[in-house]
Amino acid sequence: MYHRNFFLLIITVLTFSGCATLRPSFDVNEALTYCSSQVNRTLKQLSPPDYTLMPRSIDDSSNTWKCYKVSREEWCSGFWPGILWYDYEYTGDTAILNQARNYNASLDFLSDSPAFDHDLGFLMYCSYGNGYRLTRDTTYKKILLKSATILSTLFNPKVGTILSWPREVEKNGWPHNTIMDNMINLELLFWASKNGGNPALAQMAVSHADKTMENQFRSDYTSYHVAVYDTITGKFIKGVTHQGYSDSSVWARGQAWAIYGFTMVYRETGNPNYLDFAQKIADVYLKLLPADYIPYWDFNDPAIPNAPKDASAAAVTASALLELSTMVHQPAQSKKYRDAAVHMLKSLSSPTYRSGSSKPSFLMHSTGNMPKHAEVDVSLIYADYYYMEALLRYKRMLEH
Ligand code: GLY
Repeated sequence: MYHRNFFLLIITVLTFSGCATLRPSFDVNEALTYCSSQVNRTLKQLSPPDYTLMPRSIDDSSNTWKCYKVSREEWCSGFWPGILWYDYEYTGDTAILNQARNYNASLDFLSDSPAFDHDLGFLMYCSYGNGYRLTRDTTYKKILLKSATILSTLFNPKVGTILSWPREVEKNGWPHNTIMDNMINLELLFWASKNGGNPALAQMAVSHADKTMENQFRSDYTSYHVAVYDTITGKFIKGVTHQGYSDSSVWARGQAWAIYGFTMVYRETGNPNYLDFAQKIADVYLKLLPADYIPYWDFNDPAIPNAPKDASAAAVTASALLELSTMVHQPAQSKKYRDAAVHMLKSLSSPTYRSGSSKPSFLMHSTGNMPKHAEVDVSLIYADYYYMEALLRYKRMLEH
């Protein structure tokens, strides 16, 4: 009898401690349902729809989306279709599926146009990439393959990276420039090489990641927004900023793109150097964060704590750290990244950052381009996109 009770006690303790470790720290379904209702509010605002106009930002003093016409130059055009795909993934609602398809279709022409810049990856992979993942529509696959080939025309073999901004060659005197954001767009190249495209696309992506790792970070693992290269020698000339506070500062979203990018490159290659590097650049970011885990737009703005925050950087990083937490081998490290990501998601989901009833976006307090005084302390469509992606990643982790 004594033995049986003792055995039951052990089972009970194990069961409850097991539940405690699996119990979500915040209600991810509540957060996703909130996103879904905001998607429907946005659809109402956009009605009757012009599928060539994509929501991009909402000023602090406004409650309506500013929309922009899809074009080669409008880098944010893929995020709204991407959000619709994520919402369809969560709800299974065929009305949302139809909206996703209709908005996506406005981007078709980009797969038959010359590359304007590296943002083609954001434009096509966030929209068609998710569309293909969820529907296996072969038309989408063809569009993605063509887009990857177009993106690869910006690759400079002498330098070994993609020319991110052809327009800045003349404008800024940067013969070959590679920006940290460009790391995200390597995913389209990896995808294409694994789905019937040229295997050289993956080699370009690896070369780009290697050169970026070699040149675009300081010894403390913080990053430069822009690396400038010589097109004759292929050599790195200097690291500078475009959207950060200064050439020597840490622009929060740049570091977020880096964490996301190198985590993804590890996923795609299995090369442990990228995993090690992703951890180092994540660790320095985590050390610099304020208490609520939402960064100021640039970690070195002297106006801190009176500087604007950037919720978009937090959303990108939360999504990246969730993936990173599934890749690292040491349980304590895995827990560290997962807990940090959940901390970010909890903050983003709090009344301080949630738009709630005030606006149809998911989040407030993002900063697009502070040096240009553009989109400062606003809602941004890409903050919402990566927030929803992170929530879906977290939900999947809780279910498995
Ligand atoms: N890729 C542009 C930005 O992060 O602002």
